[in-house]
Amino acid sequence: MNMASTKIAKILGIAALVMGGMAMPAAAQEGRGDVVYVPTPQIVVDTMLQMAKIGPKDFLIDLGSGDGRFVITAATKYGANAFGVDLDTYLLKLANQNAQKAGVTDKVRFIEENLFTTDLSRATVISTYLLPEMNLRLRPKFMALKPGTRIVTHDYHLGEWDPDEQRELIVPEKKVGTPGISYLFSYVVPARVPGKWQSLVNIGGRDTPMEFNLQQEFQEIEGKVEIRDRSSDLRGRIMGENIRIVAGGRNGVPRHEFSGRIGDGTIQGMLVIGEGTTRQQLAWTAKQIQRGELKRASDELQDEK
Ligand SMILES: C[S@@+](CC[C@H](N)C(=O)[O-])C[C@H]1O[C@@H](n2cnc3c(N)ncnc32)[C@H](O)[C@@H]1O
Repeated sequence: MNMASTKIAKILGIAALVMGGMAMPAAAQEGRGDVVYVPTPQIVVDTMLQMAKIGPKDFLIDLGSGDGRFVITAATKYGANAFGVDLDTYLLKLANQNAQKAGVTDKVRFIEENLFTTDLSRATVISTYLLPEMNLRLRPKFMALKPGTRIVTHDYHLGEWDPDEQRELIVPEKKVGTPGISYLFSYVVPARVPGKWQSLVNIGGRDTPMEFNLQQEFQEIEGKVEIRDRSSDLRGRIMGENIRIVAGGRNGVPRHEFSGRIGDGTIQGMLVIGEGTTRQQLAWTAKQIQRGELKRASDELQDEK
């Protein structure tokens, strides 16, 4: 499936979810702001935090923190520092009481704040259980975070941003959205690579110039690579600061698989040419010579930028 058809499948997916009774929690008791309060079942909280691979070095922000369960679980079970924002003063008080009971007041904090104005720059993990349009409003802020920041969302994904992992959990006690089922999505903020890159790779003792023209939409890469005046289509994917690109493999051009770590205007890694017995593994470095813009997703909100 190409980028465009993946997108269409995802848009249909959103429509199916919303029409399938996922319109947000009608059975809320508390909550103020843009969505009513519905707690995430504890098994879902645990699984989402595991999908984010949270640990003691992390700093979690739960946007719309309710009774504090994401924040408190991050601290008690995974040793992370964490922070929650909500607009509901009753829930903020409850969250603080729960933190006290759990003995983690030194690691967590809850503040009264509109989640759309929260400074997310300290976060290494973000959790949300919000409406789809709220997720879409937050998405540009998420994409602007440090590469490698993990975002986990409950029941609603981030539109055309393809999740790096997704799971479905059977949760008999869940009565809202799709009763009995939770949808869990996990994303890793990708480094940005759109633009032109150049490499000089020593192949069989001969310096071989390569030029890459990369387009990026979220973590997906498309474009072209020119090797010894022959142009090939390429496709790739970024996971945090790691990139993998594949080109060639047909029309007489051997398969080229590039992988590496993205730094500031550089990529350091390796290139594997060919397959099977003809396979060669070489060092690969690329330098950015021209920066480009990320592609605009078709579900981007008008005022998203
Ligand atoms: C569906 S609940 C999720 C609670 C908690 N994150 C959980 O998963 O158990 C959404 C929460 O977001 C809060 N909320 C809604 N709009 C908000 C806003 N604009 N700013 C801050 N909090 C908001 C509500 O008060 C509610 O507690």
